[in-house]
Amino acid sequence: MKIVSFAAFGVPSEVAACIEAPDVGAPGDDEIIIEVEAFPINPVDLLTIQGLYASRPALPATPGSEGAGQVVTVGKSVVGLRPGDRVVNLGRDNWAQRLKIKATQAIKVPSEGDVLQQAMLKVNPATALLMLRNFVQLTAGDWLIQDAANSGVGTSLIRLAKAAGVRTVNVVRRETLIAPLQAIGADVVVIDGEDLAARVAKATGEAPIKLAIDAVAGETCQRLAQCLTEGGTVVNYGLLSGQPCTVAAADVIFRGITLTGFWLSKHLGQAPRQDIEALYQELSQRMAEGDVHVPVEATYGIDEIQTALAHAARSGRDGKILVTPNRKPG
Ligand SMILES: NC(=O)c1ccc[n+]([C@@H]2O[C@H](COP(=O)([O-])OP(=O)(O)OC[C@H]3O[C@@H](n4cnc5c(N)ncnc54)[C@H](OP(=O)(O)O)[C@@H]3O)[C@@H](O)[C@H]2O)c1
Repeated sequence: MKIVSFAAFGVPSEVAACIEAPDVGAPGDDEIIIEVEAFPINPVDLLTIQGLYASRPALPATPGSEGAGQVVTVGKSVVGLRPGDRVVNLGRDNWAQRLKIKATQAIKVPSEGDVLQQAMLKVNPATALLMLRNFVQLTAGDWLIQDAANSGVGTSLIRLAKAAGVRTVNVVRRETLIAPLQAIGADVVVIDGEDLAARVAKATGEAPIKLAIDAVAGETCQRLAQCLTEGGTVVNYGLLSGQPCTVAAADVIFRGITLTGFWLSKHLGQAPRQDIEALYQELSQRMAEGDVHVPVEATYGIDEIQTALAHAARSGRDGKILVTPNRKPG
């Protein structure tokens, strides 16, 4: 079978490759075998291959923060899953044609659903929903602001906030994103820049904004903080600029702005199993209803992983890059 592997940290499209590996073999009693139907290339995967992520795997390693596939075999003691079911793998190392995982790592999703969307269920929609709910109590009519609003997390947050009646200010880097983000429910879309707070105040009628969701860090984080009302909270969850998170001391001292962080891995590592299941059952249901949908720019075969990685690393994309390891795309 084919897997993606990298033996040194470096530029993802140069150090990662599709290689032949031994088949996963028969499942243990509590294990299942999955034929992977699709996996996305997320920023976390690029950071992992670069050696820049919080946890560095032992090399050689197979990346893959998420993916979805069909169960082909189940171990003797597995209940609730059978061959033909489609599952999302909550574990890592997803970039392979077949996986052998503990049955408890699998979340069953509808077999008739869009497998590209299901392959992206674990990371970005969950991150968006948890940040929407867990930091600041927002009710219908309240506002939040976010950057990287056209990302997988950002577009998920727009849709989920809209469904909750929460209004969103969405900061992006390109004018061409304004109409598409408005079409999925964004209330305000603005281009990042020096006078951001003034432009946001004008666009929202000076509405108080209690929550800022920041994936960029650096000066953009500070500009988001300046848009918040007194006592507001900035939740940083990404390091896209590569710069430290910045919040002006005056905002912290005189306006009581709080800066905190969110990491899905930590949340999933600490949450009770039934809460994790409930989270993904809700998201799966909302995906089926259209509240959760992440744009896709391109799909590749596993043999084309280096081209796919180079594509995923480019800025200015209109959606995610996915790989369908057991079939040619299209
Ligand atoms: N903490 C967590 O648990 C967690 C969970 C999920 C995701 N994340 C993080 O969330 C971020 C978004 O992930 P995703 O999968 O949703 O992304 P994605 O769909 O792959 O989109 C990438 C986004 O990053 C923007 N971007 C790239 N470089 C940038 C820069 N230097 N300054 C500003 N924007 C930049 C892109 O904007 P353009 O279109 O303008 O290029 C685009 O909006 C990543 O940093 C990821 O690591 C964190």
